[in-house]
Amino acid sequence: MSLTVRPLSRALGAEVTGIDLATVTDADAAGIRELLLEHLVCFFPGQQLDRDAHVALGRAFSELEVNPNLPSPEGGPREMVELRASQGGIADEWHTDVTFLPSPSVMSIMHMVQCPDLGGDTMWSNQYHAYEELSPALQELLLGCTALHDAEPHGKPDMKAHHPVVRVHPETGRRSLFVNTQFTRRIVELSHAESEALLGFLKGWSTQDRFCVRYAWTPGTVAIWDNRVTQHHVVNDFEGERIIQRVTVLGDLPTGEPARWEPYAPTRRGSVARHDTLLARDLRLAAAAAD
Ligand code: SIN
Repeated sequence: MSLTVRPLSRALGAEVTGIDLATVTDADAAGIRELLLEHLVCFFPGQQLDRDAHVALGRAFSELEVNPNLPSPEGGPREMVELRASQGGIADEWHTDVTFLPSPSVMSIMHMVQCPDLGGDTMWSNQYHAYEELSPALQELLLGCTALHDAEPHGKPDMKAHHPVVRVHPETGRRSLFVNTQFTRRIVELSHAESEALLGFLKGWSTQDRFCVRYAWTPGTVAIWDNRVTQHHVVNDFEGERIIQRVTVLGDLPTGEPARWEPYAPTRRGSVARHDTLLARDLRLAAAAAD
């Protein structure tokens, strides 16, 4: 294939032309993987991708997952998620896909089926930079921390997983921050109050402008991103219909440094300490879900 690759920001993102995603070969898939290692999210405008071709594209990378919470298109494959703005399907909170699962998706492949003329862009943020630009002291603290994630925003608060706060990318060996606004609930080794303060800071820090790219869609564009090292969200500034279809490639177990401390245990009773008591229960549930 003879690709043209146009970087879109200093942080991440590139627009790629010169490939037909409806007919990818193994070599094409390997080439796209390479591009993702460098750019983290790639946009392929002007594609003609029906549902079958979309699923086949996903399978060219690996097995696909079935999202436990989001709808599939009517009569469409179970591996495909469809979000329609008219039915409330606007993912406008910063997130990394399905981090409430023990093995969150490795890669997401999204097809813009219908978009407004103006607005409804999507933003992605580079979580390598979010980690690497922290002070050495905070980097060091976070290396020893783990976090609980849950699907409460999908109405499933008991769907939980426990991940390192800093993960290591299995191919690049680089560390990245692995918390997100929508699904990360608690840093386990800190008290509830400390976790609230630090997570609040990290959620803002990790999505600041200089770590981001913003993409304005045209129908038919396909975006492929590395879900391990990015967060994304839709800019909810539009009117009218917006329909996306997405498949996700089955995840790996996020790895990082092992926790350096025991989960925080409350030393006194009271309404604040109640969150810490609940944490012990949540950790048991997460461990049971991971078994
Ligand atoms: C998603 O969160 O995967 C959907 C993003 C979008 O609709 O742009």
